[in-house]
This record gives sequence, C-alpha cells and structure tokens, in this order.
Amino acid sequence: MIEQFTFRRLGFDSEIKPFDCGDSDLNEFFYKDALNYLRQFLAVTYVFENKLATVAFFSVLNDRISGEDSEKSIFRKIRSKIPHKKHFRSFPAVKVGRFGVDQQFHSQRIGTEVMDFIKAFFTIRNKTGCRFITVDAYNYPRTINFYKKNGFDFLTSHDGKEDTRSMYFDLMTFARNNSAC
Ligand SMILES: CC(C)(COP(=O)(O)OP(=O)(O)OC[C@H]1O[C@@H](n2cnc3c(N)ncnc32)[C@H](O)[C@@H]1OP(=O)(O)O)[C@@H](O)C(=O)NCCC(=O)NCCS
Repeated sequence: MIEQFTFRRLGFDSEIKPFDCGDSDLNEFFYKDALNYLRQFLAVTYVFENKLATVAFFSVLNDRISGEDSEKSIFRKIRSKIPHKKHFRSFPAVKVGRFGVDQQFHSQRIGTEVMDFIKAFFTIRNKTGCRFITVDAYNYPRTINFYKKNGFDFLTSHDGKEDTRSMYFDLMTFARNNSAC
C-alpha cells in the first residue's frame, strides 16, 4: 500500500502538505517544530505523501538502551541475546520520536507498513550500528496494542501509569526474518 505514496525527507525548501492524525500535539510538531528539530540536528522527519496530502510522517533521532532506563530483568534479557555482552553498558538504538498517520488512512495497515519501512531503513545498509528501535508510546490501549502488534515490548513495568510507556523492538528479529544479515 505505501508503495503508491511518495517518500521523502522533510527539508527546508519543501512544501508541507496538509496532515491531521487526530492528535493536536503531533500535528503541531509536524507543522511547527519538525524543521526546527532538523535545523538543530535533533531529529529528522520523513513523510509519505500523495499529490494532495501527507499520509504519514515519522521523526527519528539517535538513542540507546541502557540499564538505567530499563528494568533490570528486561535489560538482562536484552543483553543475553547479544554476543560480547560484557563489553556493553548500553546498546545503540534509534528513537521514533514522533509518528502519525492521517486520520483518513487509519486502520488500513499504513502505520504497520510504515513501521516495517522504518525497521528496514535502520537494518539494511544502515550507516551506523543500531540494534533497537525505541518509542515513548502514548499510554492508550489502542496505541500500545499497535506497537505490541508490531513486535515492540515494554522496557519497564514501572511506567504503567505514566502518559507514555517506553517500548523497544530488536532489529535483529526483523533482519533474521528478512535475511538482511
Ligand atoms: C497509531 C497509528 C500510527 C496507527 O496507524 P494505523 O495506520 O491506523 O495502524 P494500522 O492500520 O497498521 O493498525 C491499526 C491499529 O492501530 C491502532 N490504532 C488505530 N487507530 C488508532 C488511533 N486513532 N489512535 C491510536 N491507535 C490507533 C489500533 O491498535 C489499530 O488496531 P485495530 O484497528 O484492530 O483497533 C495511527 O492510528 C495514528 O496516527 N494515531 C494518532 C497518533 C498516534 O497515536 N501516534 C502514535 C504516537 S506514540
């Protein structure tokens, strides 16, 4: 489905086509802050669009998973999957800082396809080591369900009552299933 849309990196001289994912904070970030974040090297935003509108966008920035921001048992589980684990106090990750699909396109698997695209983006011909995707997911059942369905797990059980929940995805599972390595 997303193959029918144009994919591009948001740039200073490019038009921002109409977008409404139903969440005002995310809409505002997209219209007002995305280019400031780009200017300050804080996040890069990519869009899928058709002739008239932005269908989906995501903003990504460097991150890491460490013992400090995850639950001990979960971090142990993560470390146990990685050879040379003793050398690492943290593991490189990319954070999906913002992510939205225009409301007209919700529940048509576009979010899932964009998430698969992000997984491939940071696995195949990646420029730097990046083992995990992280996200601070809105703590709404449907949003958590979306990330769970897309293979994400919680980094801690201690944020269950917060507005957002820290979640991660191991890119090695994607690479294995897609013979990228
Ligand atoms: C969450 C979101 C990116 C999913 O994109 P999508 O294209 O609708 O996702 P898919 O069609 O691949 O998967 C559908 C699942 O996403 C979730 N979902 C669907 N609409 C949603 C909405 N408005 N808000 C939150 N989650 C939603 C549900 O789990 C849904 O499953 P269901 O149809 O069985 O209820 C999209 O709904 C969205 O932009 N929501 C508003 C912004 C947002 O919450 N972004 C995530 C911030 S962490």
